Order: sequence, then structure tokens, then C-alpha cells
Amino acid sequence: MCGIVGYIGRRDVAPLLLEGLQRLEYRGYDSAGIVITGKAAAGKPGALKMVKAKGRVRELEAKVPKRFAGTTGIAHTRWATHGAPSDENAHPHLDAENKVAVVHNGIIDNASELRARLTADGTVFLSETDTEVLVHLIARAQADTLEEKVREALRHVEGTYGIAVLHADFNDRIVVARNGSPVVLGIGEKEMFVASDVAALVAHTRQVVTLDDGEMATLKADDFRTYTTEGSTTTATPTTVEWEAESYDMGGHDTYMHKEISEQADAVDRVLRGRIDDRFSTVHLGGLNLDAREARGVRRIKILGCGTSYHAGQIGAQLIEELARIPADAEPASEFRYRNPVVDPDTLYIAVSQSGETYDVLAAVQELKRKGARVLGVVNVVGSAIAREADGGTYVHAGPEVCVVSTKCFTNTVVAFALFALHLGRIRDLSVADGKRIIDGLRRLPEQISEILANEDEIKRLAAEYADAKSMMFIGRVRGYPVAREASLKLKEVSYIHAEAYPASELKHGPLALIEPAMPTVAIVPDDDLLEKNRAAMEEIKARSGRILAVAHQVQEKADHTIVVPKNENELDPILMGIPLQLFAYHTALAMGRDIDKPRNLAKSVTVE
Ligand code: G6P
Repeated sequence: MCGIVGYIGRRDVAPLLLEGLQRLEYRGYDSAGIVITGKAAAGKPGALKMVKAKGRVRELEAKVPKRFAGTTGIAHTRWATHGAPSDENAHPHLDAENKVAVVHNGIIDNASELRARLTADGTVFLSETDTEVLVHLIARAQADTLEEKVREALRHVEGTYGIAVLHADFNDRIVVARNGSPVVLGIGEKEMFVASDVAALVAHTRQVVTLDDGEMATLKADDFRTYTTEGSTTTATPTTVEWEAESYDMGGHDTYMHKEISEQADAVDRVLRGRIDDRFSTVHLGGLNLDAREARGVRRIKILGCGTSYHAGQIGAQLIEELARIPADAEPASEFRYRNPVVDPDTLYIAVSQSGETYDVLAAVQELKRKGARVLGVVNVVGSAIAREADGGTYVHAGPEVCVVSTKCFTNTVVAFALFALHLGRIRDLSVADGKRIIDGLRRLPEQISEILANEDEIKRLAAEYADAKSMMFIGRVRGYPVAREASLKLKEVSYIHAEAYPASELKHGPLALIEPAMPTVAIVPDDDLLEKNRAAMEEIKARSGRILAVAHQVQEKADHTIVVPKNENELDPILMGIPLQLFAYHTALAMGRDIDKPRNLAKSVTVE
């Protein structure tokens, strides 16, 4: 949510920052802005030059004047929290003398209090944002150095922030600070970058330093140093980003969503690679930090996530119950942390997150750790906050996911859960034969995914068939239910068609009242022990003149249309059954002319509450 990018070096800064913003646009896209340090005239420091625009980065780009030269600058793309999207509320924010500029991600909790105090002292505010208080606090700070001024300002602030600060009187540096919102430094040759996400850096450097909470940094063209908000020096060891710059490009597809759906066979291959141990019919997950004895001692598993990751966690919980016979369930992290949860020492907690930054998940992890729980992470972004906060875990290796709605990462997360469940199962009571059966099933997945994706034209045709629906029902039972939930979420996110998901068994307890020809149903109908029950549910719908699209392993007579998917092992079927419905949501949205990669009101990483 919101993107920050900054540069100090010798190159012309504006094009670099605009390109960086474009790469970060998926994090927030309602307004954007850029500020640079102008050339210093003899004896005078260079003044700050700023341009801001409501709307997308391309709107900002169009407003940047031809002469906008400078070699130091910071920029921001916003997802509104305090104050509506507008030119005034867009970041950066400047003080009255145009000396201090700040870009900020996160939320300052005591902003109204600080604003009242500053206003009483004569400060005039130009925006409705929480960020602007920081600018004025820095401008008013008495300290001699920029680092001290920022530190002094931050002492008054409660909340979360990732900030970058420019000051006209200290134009050889950018000062940055982090508390709860990611800040990554990019180390170049005689140039330094800063961003809220490596996506903005990898085209220029793959050497990065990720700041910790409570850490600050000073970037100069030739060097950088890191220190705590209290002032003591910290050691920063640069690491190399694994993901290539090209993996952030669209690679010939019209949207990232389509690209990411299409990449799933390779992505699943990646999460399996090097992990299967045929000798013991199990898998190795190097980073779990949970030995066999500890794994045997786990009495319950609680999985926490938000949005699509929560749905992946629901399938994960079923896989754990089925393969390891450990009671497991998933809960939205946002709810969990507010209900004063009973934290049980024999329960293993698992935090799931694509970005590794989602604030509600991170806060749940921190609360759990404070209460002495053991927390594992199932995360995509290496080195992200949740991955670092967890006691161990596994990466899902989906590669960068840029589209706001998650597709390939969902699939890889579920596969990672299957690996984890198999690992736990084989430490406990899962037989060698069953272990082998699951491994064989996992190995079949990439090819079966390619088979599903090859059916895209047919799915596109079906999407056109149902695109007139004002509302859609998604149903499934047990293994099929979280698949239905995720498919319904996908459809609403990208097409804005209202969709609800229900366990098929619950239809008759209420939602059947909605069924009529204008409310089609998508039914998840795997060939498992519940096949007949699912057929009965379809019959109930047909009897009320409802239209049905089934996703099944064989053509369903009760349905008007069936998307047939390849059969795997019963436990692994949910991994495959949602994939055609990603394409269904995609083509529905495309036919409706939606902004698929950037749906209205949403953001990729929600780093605020
Ligand atoms: C946002 C995104 C969703 C995502 C959720 C959790 O709401 O729009 O697509 O599923 O955050 O994100 P995470 O990075 O924690 O998986």
C-alpha cells in the first residue's frame, strides 16, 4: 500500500523516479508525486522542486515539466487513508518554506493531536493527511543535522511509517526511517536508491539492505550508513535479490493477472524443486526450525492470513487435518488479533502472506510472539517483515506477483501447505504408501495445470455466457468450499460482480431463496466421497430454475455447463479446481472493460490496519 522510491547519485533523477513509481503502482494508485533537489546556485542551496497529480503515475508524468533537472529526489504513489485522493493530499508534502519534503507509508495514529498542537502554534496545513504533521515537526526541529531533526520529529509520533526525507539545506543526502512499513536501500555504484519494495530497485541494482523497525539510514551518492532511531550505529549487510528484473515485466501478456495465471505450472514446479525425499516418501523444508520431536508435540494448528492468503490457509488447514491428523483451522488475522485470543503452548501458529507485509498479519504474529507462541511463516517475499518476525517457515517461491489480486501465489501457497502437511504426516501416522501417493500427485500438478490453462478459449466463452449476471453464487463442500470462496473473491475483485460463497449443504438453510435464472451458481464438484451430495445440491438449484456452471472431473448432467479439470488425489484436487475460475474471473472482467491489474479501491499490500 503506497509506494516510495528515492535516488541520489549522478543521473537525471526524474525519469528514474517515474520509472520506479510505475513499478510500484500496484501498491497504490490514486495519486502520485515527485520532489527533487534543484541545482544549487553560487552560495545558495538548491530549492526543492515538486510536482503532484491526482490519478495514475502517467498523469504525474504528463505534468512534469521538460526542465526538471536534478540528481536527488524522492517520489510516492498513494492509496488514500487520511484524506481523499487529490493533488493536495498526494505526497510529497512540503513545509511552509519549501525546505523539507517527506514521503510516507503507514499511518500516524496521533496525527490529529499533533495537528491541533501545531495549528495552535501557527502552522498552516495544506493537506488533510497525517503525513503533513511529520513535515512540520522536522521543519521546526532545533537540531543541527538532518538526522537529528528527523529523530526529534519521530519522537513525537505514534504509529507506523516508512519515510524518506529531503532537506534543501542538506542536499547531499536522503534520510529514511522505518517502523512497521518496509524500507529497502538499493546499493549502486556511486549511486543509492531507496524504495518500499525491491520491485522499484531490481532494474538498477540487486544489492539491497532491508531496514528493521526502529532503524534509520542516511544515503549519500557514495555511501550509506544505518543507525537506530536512538542514534546508535547498526551493521547493515547487503543481500542479493533473487528475482530478476525481467520477472517484473509483463512478458508479452496484456495484464499481469494473465501473465501470473499463465505462470502457474512453472511456479508450482519451483515450490516442489529440491524438496521431495523419495527414500522416506516425505519432503524437506529447510527453514521450519521444528524438529521431529517438536512436530510430534504439536496438538493444534492455527493458520492466520487475510484475503486470498486466508483462503489458501483454509485449504492448508484441511490438508493438515487430512494428512497429519492434527486439528487445524484458519482464521482472518485481522479478527484474531482483536479477540484477545487464548494462546495455547501446544498450538503451532502459521502466518500466511504473499507480501509478508500485511499489517494485520504482522500484528497478529507480534501479539502471538509476545505471548510466547511458536509462529511459522508461509510467505512469498523473501526477507519480508513477517518472514523475519516468524520463528521459521517456508517460502512459497511463486516469484514476484504484481497484479493486485493474487493467483499464482495462492496456488503455490496451497502447494507449500501440502508439502508441510505431508512432512508432518510422515513424522506422525501417514503411511509410506500414502506419502508416496501424495508425492506422485504433487509431481503431476504442473502438467495438469498446463492442461487446464490450455482450455482457456472454452473458459473465455463460458465467461461471456455468464457476464450478464448481476450476482453469482459459488458453492462447494468440505474440500470444495474454500475453492468456492476464493473463486467468488476473485470474481468480485476484478469484475465487481457481486458474488457469494456458501457450503453447498447450507443452501437450503437460506440462500436458496436467492436462486432464479438471473443468479447463476458455480458449483465445485470433485469426484470424491461427496459427489452425490454435490449432485443433490445442483438438483435443488435446477428445481428453482437456476443456471449452473460446474467445475468437475466429469461432465455434470445437472449443470448447464461443465469445466472438466484433470483428477489428482482427492486431497490435492482443491489446488487444481480453482485455476479455471481464475481465468473465468479474468475473462469476465476483461469483457466488462475493468482495470484488471488495479481494481478500484484495492491495493496489493495493506500495510495499515
Ligand atoms: C490485500 C490484497 C489481496 C491479498 C491480501 C493479503 O487485500 O488486495 O489480494 O490477498 O491483501 O495479502 P498478503 O500479501 O498478506 O497475502
